[in-house]
Amino acid sequence: MSPDDAPRVEHDAQIEAMFDRVAPRYDFLNRVLSLGNDIGWRRRAVASARLGDGERALDIGTGTGDLAFDLLGASDPTSRVAGVDLSTAMLERARHRAARRGLAARYETARADGQRLPYPNASFDRVVASFTVRNFGDLGAGLREMRRVLRPGGRAVILELSTPRNPLVRATYRAYFGGLVPRLAVLLGGDRDAYRYLPRSVAAFPSPERLAALLREAGFARVRFERLTLGAATLHVAET
Ligand SMILES: C[S@@+](CC[C@H](N)C(=O)[O-])C[C@H]1O[C@@H](n2cnc3c(N)ncnc32)[C@H](O)[C@@H]1O
Repeated sequence: MSPDDAPRVEHDAQIEAMFDRVAPRYDFLNRVLSLGNDIGWRRRAVASARLGDGERALDIGTGTGDLAFDLLGASDPTSRVAGVDLSTAMLERARHRAARRGLAARYETARADGQRLPYPNASFDRVVASFTVRNFGDLGAGLREMRRVLRPGGRAVILELSTPRNPLVRATYRAYFGGLVPRLAVLLGGDRDAYRYLPRSVAAFPSPERLAALLREAGFARVRFERLTLGAATLHVAET
């Protein structure tokens, strides 16, 4: 590790510890605090990432597996997903949930950092990530890794929370995520710091236009994005 890596390593350690703490309540709080919207947003992502016969996707920041399971359910039965995450507690839940859904044979997990993936070049047909890249200490490195592990003609699908453009919607959104969500999360048994981090991380994340530019800089082509639910989330799709 070079001294330049130290801030990223420290950041990643904090993210890992935070998601380890959040894991037991993650699914419940996710559903409640996103007002159920996360389900429809993941469905939109899946519609751009469906896998054909024998195809394979990498789900970066797979968490408890929601995106991976939706993708497997919408794809050819011979397709598979590899899910990576920094948090072992999230991965443990993902593995249990995969077994309960009868998906264990099509879903493998590994503890790995999305900014330094342990896979060879061009090893996946799709790379997907929902609500993960906002947590990267080095976003450029994460996007370059996505590009590297995709085969030629492969596709990256990134779903992320975003800040609405309309001032009225933005003010409501900020009051909700910045004010109500951290309080509600604590009331519902969640981790106060994690749900304070959430609005800060969304505010600090690049705009959809900027993320599209960063994807192009990382070597992607045909980059496009779609704002969902008045801009509360954004779906980016990019090809290799
Ligand atoms: C908000 S959760 C999203 C989980 C899941 N994708 C979903 O849609 O519910 C973000 C996940 O990304 C993981 N994560 C954050 N930074 C990461 C990194 N650098 N490499 C791999 N996983 C990371 C976290 O541990 C967490 O499980």
